[in-house]
Amino acid sequence: MRPVEIKPKVYWVGGVDWDLRSFHGYLTPRGTTYNAYLVVDDKITLVDTVKHYLFDEMLSRIKAVVDPAQIDYVVVNHVEMDHSGSVPKIMEIAPRAKIITSPRGKKGLVRHYKRDWECVVVDSGEKLTTGARTLQFFHTPMVHWPDSMVTYLPEEKLLLPNDAFGQHIASAERFDDQLGWNVAHEEAAKYYANIVMPYGDQVNKALDALASLPIEMIAPSHGLIWRTFLPDLLKVYRRWASHETEKKALLVYDTMWGATKKIALALQDGLEEAGVPVTVRCLQTSHISEIMPDVLASRAVLIGTPTLNNGMLPTVGAFLTYLKGLRPKKRVGLAFGSYGWGGQGAKEVKSAMEAMGWEVPLEAINIQYTPGDGELAAAKEAAKKLAEVI
Ligand code: FEO
Repeated sequence: MRPVEIKPKVYWVGGVDWDLRSFHGYLTPRGTTYNAYLVVDDKITLVDTVKHYLFDEMLSRIKAVVDPAQIDYVVVNHVEMDHSGSVPKIMEIAPRAKIITSPRGKKGLVRHYKRDWECVVVDSGEKLTTGARTLQFFHTPMVHWPDSMVTYLPEEKLLLPNDAFGQHIASAERFDDQLGWNVAHEEAAKYYANIVMPYGDQVNKALDALASLPIEMIAPSHGLIWRTFLPDLLKVYRRWASHETEKKALLVYDTMWGATKKIALALQDGLEEAGVPVTVRCLQTSHISEIMPDVLASRAVLIGTPTLNNGMLPTVGAFLTYLKGLRPKKRVGLAFGSYGWGGQGAKEVKSAMEAMGWEVPLEAINIQYTPGDGELAAAKEAAKKLAEVI
């Protein structure tokens, strides 16, 4: 396996996980990579590692550049095991190596691996000289875990931000321009929506802290390395972190006998007549993680469920549980559904939207049995009212 020199004497030595199709429940049809970087200087530094089962792949790439036993520092930017999973093995092979990590990183490593490796715990902003180069570390708590930090190489204007700016793409290409903005942006948005979205405030703080640094290249720990589309990437990250959306609507629903689907179509009709583009996602065919990029982009989110056993359908419940954890803000919501008796499903959806702090200007549209023409016309009018709000 060959390394890729991304800057003079800085090598990508990561692993490509071609077969990964689910990253703790987030579907990854393109697979992913775990990106590790080797900085060759008077002192040799490995920044992050790979998931445990790709250790041999990483090692063979390192061996193509240096003797791994000569590694002096192993930077652990983040303890999650897709990046720290090969730390135990590399520490065996590189006996003189010290781990560089944040205070919470050290605690996390001890908790997870029950090992007492020699650690250099760094403060935010602290620098380490490796010879001709400097490594500077900035704590970025909650992007993605409390331990997270980024590593900056000022001489190369290179940022190694770990999870931030990542995308789940397995490819032979290493750089953004090799696959193009459309693919890179699509997967970066999906990654942000499914992994980073709850931490918008922390992302904004990190973007503020990094704004004064000259950056020419961002090499994250998943997917492509950004060297061409940096301005576009930073712009969309700022928008996502600030919960900015487009004047679009997302309709998510499940249906038992087709009644809730009829209401969904009437709502779509009303929104489109009012000039609002609508994305329609049925939970029988769309996985919850595939819907999150639509949530990321859409100002209005309409969620529909029939009532089953005094509550919402389990598919809708799973979607709302996932959505609640990802904490999208500044959305306008509308709940809808059908029922035979009771009618609790749509009411529960409305309550869940309110609990997330969304603006819910209209009562839930809740129709008994199959909706009639008049009820569908009323739903269409409700959608037009919603369009005025968004
Ligand atoms: Fe890619 Fe939070 O780990």
